[in-house]
Amino acid sequence: MAKKTILITGAAGFIGSHLCERFLGEEFRVVGMDNLITGDLKNIEHLFKHADFEFYEHDVSTFVHVPGNLDYILHFASPASPIDYLKIPIQTLKVSSLGTHNLLGLARAKNSRILVASTSEVYGDPLVHPQTEEYFGNVNPIGPRGVYDEAKRFQEAITMAYHTFHGLETRIVRIFNTYGPKMRLNDGRVLPAFIGQALRGEDLTVFGEGQQTRSFCYIDDLVDGIYKLLFSDYAKPVNIGNNEEITIKEFAEEIIELTGTNQKIVYKSLPQDDPMQRKPDITKAQEVLGWNPKIKRSEGLKITYEYFKSLTKDDLYKKEHNTFEKYIR
Ligand SMILES: NC(=O)c1ccc[n+]([C@@H]2O[C@H](COP(=O)([O-])OP(=O)(O)OC[C@H]3O[C@@H](n4cnc5c(N)ncnc54)[C@H](O)[C@@H]3O)[C@@H](O)[C@H]2O)c1
Repeated sequence: MAKKTILITGAAGFIGSHLCERFLGEEFRVVGMDNLITGDLKNIEHLFKHADFEFYEHDVSTFVHVPGNLDYILHFASPASPIDYLKIPIQTLKVSSLGTHNLLGLARAKNSRILVASTSEVYGDPLVHPQTEEYFGNVNPIGPRGVYDEAKRFQEAITMAYHTFHGLETRIVRIFNTYGPKMRLNDGRVLPAFIGQALRGEDLTVFGEGQQTRSFCYIDDLVDGIYKLLFSDYAKPVNIGNNEEITIKEFAEEIIELTGTNQKIVYKSLPQDDPMQRKPDITKAQEVLGWNPKIKRSEGLKITYEYFKSLTKDDLYKKEHNTFEKYIR
C-alpha cells in the first residue's frame, strides 16, 4: 500500500521536528517546510538521510506549492516564544493569518485533512480557571502579546470557516506550555531560561513574586495528543497540555534541585500582560481522544536537562536568534 504523505510546516522548529520524527516512525512520507526564521536545520539534519523525508525552505506566508498527493497537513509554522514574536510581530501576524489561509487553500486543492497549531494564548490572561475550550478568553488586542494571540484567534476563525463553508476536514489543537529536547536555550521561555541560567552559573530570574502558575507538558505527550486528534473526527478546538500546575517560584526551586546549582532566585518586575494563571482543562482530550499526559515532570525535566547539558558553549551563551534581519521588511 502506498504511504500516506503529510506536510509539516515549522518542521525545523521545536515541536515540528518532533512531529517529523513521529510521522516518519509511523511510516508516513513527510514533507517538511520551514523558512528557518526561528527554527534550525540542526533539529532535522538527522532526517535528511531518510528516503521518506524531504524538505522545502519556504515562507508559508507566501503562496505554498507542494507537488503530488497530500493526505494531511500540520500547520506548525509560527514564532512561539514572546522574545521572538515581540521582535518579529508582522511576520507573526502573517504566518497565522496569510500562512493559514494559504495552507487551507492547499488543503482544499489537495483534498487533505489539515490540523492547525493554536495555543493557550487564545485565552489571554484568563478569568476562568482552569481553561475549558468553551472559554472565549481575555486578550488585549493591542498589547505586546496581541500579535501572537490575535493571529492565533484569527487562525482558528478561518480554519472553522473553511470547515463550515467548504466542508474541509480541519482540526485545531490548543497547545499549552510544552517542553523537551530541541527547545532553544535562549528563547525566553521560563524553562530553558532557568536551566540556561543554572548551567551558566547565574541566579534564576523570577518575574513578579513568582506566584503566577504554569503547567508544563512533555513533548512526547503533546505529539501523542496531536496524533490522536488528527485521526479523530472532532473538528472543534481541543486543549492539549499537562494539568499539573506549579508556581514559577516552586518551579525555580525544582530547577535548582535538578541542576544542583548553588545560585539563588532573584526577583524582577512582571512584564506587561503576563498571564497569572495557566492550566488546561483536559476533559475534552480525555473524553474525545482518550488522551492523558503520561510523563511526569521529574522525568521530562531530567531528559531535557541532559539535552541542554549536551549543547556547546556557543549555544549556552548565544543571546538571540540571528536570522531575523533578512526577514524584516
Ligand atoms: N512550544 C509551545 O509550548 C507552544 C505552545 C502553544 C502553541 N505552540 C505552537 O506550536 C507551533 C510550533 O512552536 P515551537 O515551539 O515549535 O516554535 P519554534 O519557533 O521552535 O518553531 C516554529 C517554526 O516555524 C518556522 N516558521 C515561522 N514562520 C514561518 C513562515 N512564515 N514560514 C515557514 N516557517 C516558519 C520557524 O522557522 C520555526 O522552525 C507554533 O505554531 C506555536 O504557536 C507552541
